[in-house]
Amino acid sequence: MKKTDIIALGELNVDLILNDINGLPTVGKEIIAEKMVMTLGSSTAIFAANAATLGAEVAFMGMVGHDDFGAFVKNNLRQKGVETSFISESDNYSTGLTVVLSYKEDRANVTYPGAMNFMGINEINGDAIKNAKHVHISSLFMQEALHRDIVGILKLIKKSGATISLDTQWDPSEKWDLDYRQILPMVDVFMPNETELKALTRTDNIKDAIERIRDYANVAVIKKGSNGSLMLKQNGELKNLPACININVVDTVGAGDSFNAGFIHAFVKGESLEECQEAGNITGAVNTTAAGGTGAFISKDKVSEIACRQFGKILSL
Ligand SMILES: Nc1ncnc2c1ncn2[C@@H]1O[C@H](COP(=O)(O)OP(=O)(O)OP(=O)(O)O)[C@@H](O)[C@H]1O
Ligand SMILES: [Mg+2]
Repeated sequence: MKKTDIIALGELNVDLILNDINGLPTVGKEIIAEKMVMTLGSSTAIFAANAATLGAEVAFMGMVGHDDFGAFVKNNLRQKGVETSFISESDNYSTGLTVVLSYKEDRANVTYPGAMNFMGINEINGDAIKNAKHVHISSLFMQEALHRDIVGILKLIKKSGATISLDTQWDPSEKWDLDYRQILPMVDVFMPNETELKALTRTDNIKDAIERIRDYANVAVIKKGSNGSLMLKQNGELKNLPACININVVDTVGAGDSFNAGFIHAFVKGESLEECQEAGNITGAVNTTAAGGTGAFISKDKVSEIACRQFGKILSL
């Protein structure tokens, strides 16, 4: 039986993105956004959709509500070529929603987690995991049950023989309740951004943060926005890769997830870590050329065309 390349394990929700907002919101007042778009949201879904667009065989494992937003999410994933049969529909909880207030270089999000909060180790389909080459987990702190059960889930995946990548994303509670010393040895590719890594390791600079994880991490790749990415290899070598400069950023929603999609697609194909990092920087930059996390990922050819035309890069995936 042919193995699934990647199982994306995590949260599913709808993104309601407001762009061109006239100022910052204030309680008790009202401001206008000039543009609005409703898209497939959630870090893990953007990752899954974009990895599939790049040519990987991707299945999603997650939970939505038995409602219109849930159907919207599943339809969108299917249209992107993502297998959705491992997504369960809850009768008790609604599909999650994120309202994104998007400003030029960053954004403020408000999320209602909904059904995604209730997917723990008991909802994991062990047979599907056994049939996957790689499992990507994202947004750990946004999902209560996944966060609670993460050690058991990582052990289960490890036992099945799949490789694992983890992007914790931000912890809305800012407690950063995760023992990286216990977790990281089980994670093949750790993919936080700079701010998240500093918060998780309780340091105020990236150099110290890397020292904290050095003895526990396999490969870590730290995303630095318009400064590109920094990779820590298992032999301790550090590799900094400047970003592909985009002077016309539309928005940066999902840049990190698109970086993950490019990197992990290359990783599963057995490319060198340097090629994986290069692919991640390119797909992260391509993401910033259109609205939302999947807007620039129309097809693999289109992604390659943007990479070549706008950044002078060949996407060899
Ligand atoms: N303005 C930009 N110009 C060019 N490349 C960018 C830009 N912003 C991000 N990237 C690329 O995308 C990668 C990931 O972006 P970023 O560092 O913002 O991730 P993140 O903080 O995890 O994002 P997310 O909010 O999507 O989780 C960067 O490492 C970089 O290679
Ligand atoms: Mg991120």
